[in-house]
Amino acid sequence: MSKVTAILGSKYPIIQGAMGVICNPELVAAVSEAGGFGLLATAFSMEPDPFRNNVRATKQLTNKPFGANLFVMNPHVTEFAQILAEEGVRAVTVSAGSPKNLIPLLHELDIKAIVVVPAVDVARKARDAGADAIIAEGSESGGMQGFRGASTMVLVPAIVDAISLPVIAAGGICDSRGYRAAMALGAQGIQVGTRFIASRECTAHPHYKQYITDSGETGTGLVNLGRARVRALRTPLVEKILEDGKIPDGVFTPTSVEESWIKGRLEAGLLPAGQVAGLISDIPTVQEIIEEMVRGA
Ligand SMILES: Cc1cc2nc3c(=O)[nH]c(=O)nc-3n(C[C@H](O)[C@H](O)[C@H](O)COP(=O)(O)O)c2cc1C
Repeated sequence: MSKVTAILGSKYPIIQGAMGVICNPELVAAVSEAGGFGLLATAFSMEPDPFRNNVRATKQLTNKPFGANLFVMNPHVTEFAQILAEEGVRAVTVSAGSPKNLIPLLHELDIKAIVVVPAVDVARKARDAGADAIIAEGSESGGMQGFRGASTMVLVPAIVDAISLPVIAAGGICDSRGYRAAMALGAQGIQVGTRFIASRECTAHPHYKQYITDSGETGTGLVNLGRARVRALRTPLVEKILEDGKIPDGVFTPTSVEESWIKGRLEAGLLPAGQVAGLISDIPTVQEIIEEMVRGA
């Protein structure tokens, strides 16, 4: 058993990245059933009860371990941690803010803390705060990122060299080639986001999935929201933002996320995805995705 599977309790060191409201219980459970580690998300969760319902719905679908992402900026983050402990979750990822105050609580609750970082200095701080493992998230990843980033190819070995915790690579991985490459860079596990959006079990709207499968490797751009940047598909909305630099109101809110990610109104909001969209051209089952990763690696 590797250090990462020991922390996760899963068969393989493969984490399904948190992806807001499209980490539906069916997706999370399918990842765990296939031997990976599914994650529920909390970034857009504004109330504890629906989150608890999602945890329980996932438990109905699998007996295998799964986790959640705790989004530090979310004002309910400590309530979510309590719920996860009560429901028997043993490992979480922590992102979008300093984990310093959260890690002692998680450890008190007997939950392992895997901290997502974009740089070596942030990885050192996470280690000093008591992180159990690190996710090195390269700048080619889909979703939110800060203003300092490095690609997975550079970030993973830099963090592996700098700290002695297990490192999990995220960003740009969609198949066994990426899995092998991450291991060659010194990672002991992978976190995969965009590939799982284009899976049968993900609740993302077919238009979102099709945009990913149609996209080339240059099909994403970084949209500057002021407080952070989001790597998103170059939809006509994103092309316009990148051209004139103006962000229309409400393109990255719980409402726009619901409208564009789930209902498929692509003009309603940003559709986050990684550069790896350029390598994805089909919509298989989660099990097929994980089997190929493991077989080929
Ligand atoms: C739609 C979407 C939403 C995301 N939301 C979150 C989130 O809430 N919390 C988080 O830690 N990471 C989030 N991420 C990042 C993923 O968990 C993962 O690290 C990333 O997708 C890996 O890069 P890849 O897309 O190249 O596989 C999101 C990514 C996407 C595509």
